[in-house]
Amino acid sequence: MFPSTRLTELLGVKKPIIAGGMVWCSGHELAAAVSNCGGLGVIGAGSMYPENLQHHIRRCQEQTKEPFGVNIPLLAPEVEKLFEVVIAEKVPVVITSAGNPKTWTARLHEAGCKVLHVVSSAKFAQKAEEAGVDAVIAEGFEAGGHNGREESSTLVLAQSVVEAVSCPVVLAGGFATGRSILAALALGAEGVQIGTLFALTKESSAHDKFKEACLQAGEGSTMLLLKKVVPTRLLFNSFTTEVQGMEDRGATKEELEEYLGKRRAKQGIFEGNLEEGELEIGQVVALINREATVEEQFKMLEEDFEKAVQRLHK
Ligand SMILES: Cc1cc2nc3c(=O)[nH]c(=O)nc-3n(C[C@H](O)[C@H](O)[C@H](O)COP(=O)(O)O)c2cc1C
Repeated sequence: MFPSTRLTELLGVKKPIIAGGMVWCSGHELAAAVSNCGGLGVIGAGSMYPENLQHHIRRCQEQTKEPFGVNIPLLAPEVEKLFEVVIAEKVPVVITSAGNPKTWTARLHEAGCKVLHVVSSAKFAQKAEEAGVDAVIAEGFEAGGHNGREESSTLVLAQSVVEAVSCPVVLAGGFATGRSILAALALGAEGVQIGTLFALTKESSAHDKFKEACLQAGEGSTMLLLKKVVPTRLLFNSFTTEVQGMEDRGATKEELEEYLGKRRAKQGIFEGNLEEGELEIGQVVALINREATVEEQFKMLEEDFEKAVQRLHK
């Protein structure tokens, strides 16, 4: 059994597992399934208009009685309106990322929300704690999607961030087994945030072609690119070959932005355009080779966690 931690108490959940809010993957179906399994399901608002977000929150409320959250990347267009929706709909937990947590934390607390913020360094973890967040999520550069500029691995962050703050620390980046969750707890973290594993479940709204390509991917099939724009971990395809070529030739931020355009992540993840789309996924994709339901993945995580505990006792 997963132990209770300050994080599980804070969030009112049974298991110290958060499903990262992911653009084009984390709708109400995935969020509700994770919450019904005892973790914290999270709706990814980064790819939603305010009215879509309201729809997903209401559907999630119908599908689960357990707590769930919404992830809002602070650089999202219409960010003010997204916050108005989570406050009006009384969402219990808000996870902010990609920006300054100072701007929103107090307003969210006044509205009764718990606030977690994603950081990529011990310095940003301290700033987030000063801004009053309830917990920090330290995300290493193994993680799928947008990354911090420091390129610190989860293992290094685990050691520095746990020392830097006194609030609960959640680790993200590279978790897809129960034994890795045990390792996170041993390092002083009080939970993990998992993205890649849940992006490839049946309940994820990602396109089947995206899921199939990821399930076939092996070691070394992702890379951190677009460092001059926003560092992003991507599965190799024609789009990444082109970006890599441009970067090798010294393309400027503006040239990369122009080539990137606006719809690449939607094309790749949601529409299944495996050639031209951005296929955001984490390094740990190499360990996942079959599509499963959220419930099956929770069972796998718990059994593997138990085995690791037994091994340690021996
Ligand atoms: C397809 C995809 C989309 C993501 N979108 C977001 C996002 O919108 N906001 C965010 O804070 N993190 C996003 N992430 C990061 C996850 O929330 C999570 O922190 C990360 O995936 C954890 O690392 P892992 O992929 O190794 O499990 C995304 C990750 C993936 C794979």
